[in-house]
Amino acid sequence: MEVLVTGASGNVGAYVVEELSRRGERVVAAGTDVDKLKRRFGEQARPVVLDLTDPGTYPGALAGVDRVFLIRPPHLGKPEDLYPFIDALKEHGIQLVAFLSLMGVEKNPFPPHHKIEKYIEAAGLPYAHIRPGFFMQNLSGIHAAEIKAMNQVFIPAGKSRTSFIDAADIGLAAATVLRDPKVYTNTCYTLTGAESLDYDQVAEILSRVTGRNITYARPGLWKYRQYYIRQRKLDPSYVNVTVALYLMTRLGTAAAVTPDFTQLTGREPRSLEDFVRRHVDCF
Ligand SMILES: NC(=O)c1ccc[n+]([C@@H]2O[C@H](COP(=O)([O-])OP(=O)(O)OC[C@H]3O[C@@H](n4cnc5c(N)ncnc54)[C@H](OP(=O)(O)O)[C@@H]3O)[C@@H](O)[C@H]2O)c1
Repeated sequence: MEVLVTGASGNVGAYVVEELSRRGERVVAAGTDVDKLKRRFGEQARPVVLDLTDPGTYPGALAGVDRVFLIRPPHLGKPEDLYPFIDALKEHGIQLVAFLSLMGVEKNPFPPHHKIEKYIEAAGLPYAHIRPGFFMQNLSGIHAAEIKAMNQVFIPAGKSRTSFIDAADIGLAAATVLRDPKVYTNTCYTLTGAESLDYDQVAEILSRVTGRNITYARPGLWKYRQYYIRQRKLDPSYVNVTVALYLMTRLGTAAAVTPDFTQLTGREPRSLEDFVRRHVDCF
């Protein structure tokens, strides 16, 4: 049987595909753009079309599959968007659903991941909830523009700390549970890096590695929102979600360091400095 990886072209899904196929699992890489998946994975995975909002695509994606890595694509803001696919998993007799959730959702009902976790559990599906903190890839992705152009970390996180994790480590942890569904049935893991950094420390690391003077601009939430909507021209509803997440971060919700990654994989999480060195071209 095969493992279905949703969001296979995304930050985490791509690493889940790589980690599973490296360990000899047969992997089905799913997304709405099958040509992108073919180019990305070649022989590493079998590409299939899966649109979570189109139940007509479910049977083809689930054929021959007994385990699933499930993500909520960021633009699907309502938890209900994922319910039809979760119902289909139940019908299909899946052995384990590893759901990419979010650190702290067990105590916070507002992010959609909270209701999605509850829906998976209520469906009686064997689950492993993967709850990561902030991805290091946020720095090399969405926030890299200001680092590159202005030598500024333009993030409204105040003086708070964040225990960043590399999406590559999340991919390794997800592959670990998916390879051994019986052992990891009905479990939850909060995945963080090994250190909790404030954004002045993030700017110091970026400066050290790039050799430039990069500073933390520490914008207010409103200034950040206006800039990302007006200058960056990003979708206001997406920007509002990030504002809410940085508000929570200011309250300390992103700071905790947990041992879960090491307990699960036997490895130390990759450090932010190592990440910046490996992805220095992004900055
Ligand atoms: N960023 C963080 O710090 C952080 C921290 C904790 C949790 N999370 C959670 O992680 C999740 C995002 O993971 P990610 O960053 O790995 O994703 P991502 O890089 O944003 O990629 C999204 C993926 O979803 C696929 N997709 C888009 N629309 C789809 C649809 N209608 N049906 C099926 N697939 C679709 C895309 O592939 P195609 O284009 O091929 O369809 C793509 O592979 C979110 O739920 C987010 O809340 C993020």
